[in-house]
Parts: sequence; structure tokens; C-alpha cells
Amino acid sequence: MMILAFPDYLSQAQRLADRLNTPLAEVSLHHFPDGESFIRLPPSLPGHVIFCRSLNQPNDKLIELLLCATTARELGAKRITLVAPYLSYMRQDFANQPGVAVSQRIIGKILADLFDDVITVDPHLHRISSLNQAIPIKNAISLTAADEIGRFLKQKLEYALLLGPDSESEQWVANIANKIGFDYCIAHKERQGDTQIKMNLPNNKFLNKTIVIIDDMASTGRTLGKAAGLLQAAGSKDIYAVVTHPLFCDDAEAHILQAGIKVIWSTDSIGHTTSCINLDALLADAIKAII
Ligand code: R5P
Repeated sequence: MMILAFPDYLSQAQRLADRLNTPLAEVSLHHFPDGESFIRLPPSLPGHVIFCRSLNQPNDKLIELLLCATTARELGAKRITLVAPYLSYMRQDFANQPGVAVSQRIIGKILADLFDDVITVDPHLHRISSLNQAIPIKNAISLTAADEIGRFLKQKLEYALLLGPDSESEQWVANIANKIGFDYCIAHKERQGDTQIKMNLPNNKFLNKTIVIIDDMASTGRTLGKAAGLLQAAGSKDIYAVVTHPLFCDDAEAHILQAGIKVIWSTDSIGHTTSCINLDALLADAIKAII
């Protein structure tokens, strides 16, 4: 078995390789001036290779996975696993208007054709309950960072009220709250555009309370920003945020901090300055369970 890591996920992949006591090689990657990707793999591969890379900024990365998986098969790999802690294209899960591409199903099928196993963390599954409804292979494995996040919060804070910013977040917030004995509540959110959010807080008391907003990802940061603004107006004391996937596009992080969030914590699913909750133990256990 060998771990093949992309440069953007190298330190996380190295931690995973150390846990599994498995050799690691870096995928050699170059972008030509016109944007094409050049990929080179180690010419001699074992029977089982594990590609590690989160799929934020997904369009180039998906093409690069296609090049990698095809080349690995040509080099003789019999089993190819993808560890993608952040899995993109999971949010568009139905055609909300005629003609809309259901990207969850389409990208899921591409991944199923390329890989024998796909392992991810807290994917954005909303209208389906299991990952292999999106990626039709037996080993489409959806892990949750709830234990890691829960343990982290318990160390940082004696008690806090957890807030999920929308109904989709309830699955993660409830899980974490139940594990560590914190209370939780869920806001109502309506997205009106990429950066336009309408939100109503639930009828809890927020005055002088320590609040942690929990979500699967922060992309534009507008969801966390809106929740933080409302919590400040309701008199909350300290407001923190935890996300599994720190996408943080453009001014997202600055926007969130300006909105009154004291600290943002995230997992290392994507390398970022906020990443302080490591996922290597969770991923290593999942790999051990399927080999
Ligand atoms: C959406 O339902 C997700 O769970 C997140 O709330 C959302 O993707 C966050 O996006 P943004 O940071 O752009 O508000």
C-alpha cells in the first residue's frame, strides 16, 4: 500500500501515512501557462494506492484525479482509494429548475468509475441519507468529525450553547451536542444569493451566553457572519465558530471576524490557519477497516 499525496494536502497526508506506517510519495504536479495540468506518479506502484486530497477548488482537481487514477491503473494498481476529506459538488442534489445539472449525482458517478473506495468527512448530504446514493460503490464511506470536534470543544470551553445556522446543520450540531452534553438550537436560514442570507435565530435566550456556531463548511462566510451579527444583537457574550471544512473564499475569514466571531476553529480537511482539529486518526481507522 502507498499513499500518494498532492502538494496541497501533503502535511495531512504525511500524518496519515505515519499513523498507518505506510510509505508516502508526492504526486508531481505542474500547471502549464494555459491551465492544463501535468501529472507524474512514481513509475512503480504497489497493488493498492491511496490518493489523498481535499476537493475544494474542485474543477482542476477533478481533472487531476482523472489523470492520476487512469495512470495508476495503467501502472498496475489493482485497488485505488480516494481520501478526500472535503468532497465538493455535493450541495446541488436535485434539479430545482428545469435544466439544472444535478452535480452530486454526476460527479459521484465519475468518482465511482475512477475509484474502488472513496472516504470523506461530513459530506453535505441533505436529501439522501447515505454517500453511496451519490457515489454508487460499496465503499463510499462518509465519516464524521463530530468526535474530534466535540473533544476539542470540551477542552476549550466548560460549557457553551451550540447554534446550527440552518436546518441542514442540525445533523452535525445535534451529534456534537449529544456527545459532549452541551445544549443546541437551530436557526432558520434562507439563502437569497451567493452572499445574501436571511436568517432568524430560534427563541432561545442568548443574552450573556457563550455560543459556538457549528457548520459543515464556511465558503463565503456569510452564513457565519449573519448568525454572529444576530447573536451580537441578542447580547451574546463570546461567539465562536467551528467548521469541518474551511473553504474561506475571498474575504470570508475577514468578514466572519468583523461580524463579531472571536475565534474560528476548523479541522485540517483543508489546510488553513484556523485548522487545529486533526483528522488523521479518524481517516486511519477508516482505512484500516477496509484493507
Ligand atoms: C449550506 O447549507 C452549508 O451547510 C453552509 O451553511 C454553507 O455552504 C456556508 O456557505 P457560506 O459560507 O457561503 O455562507
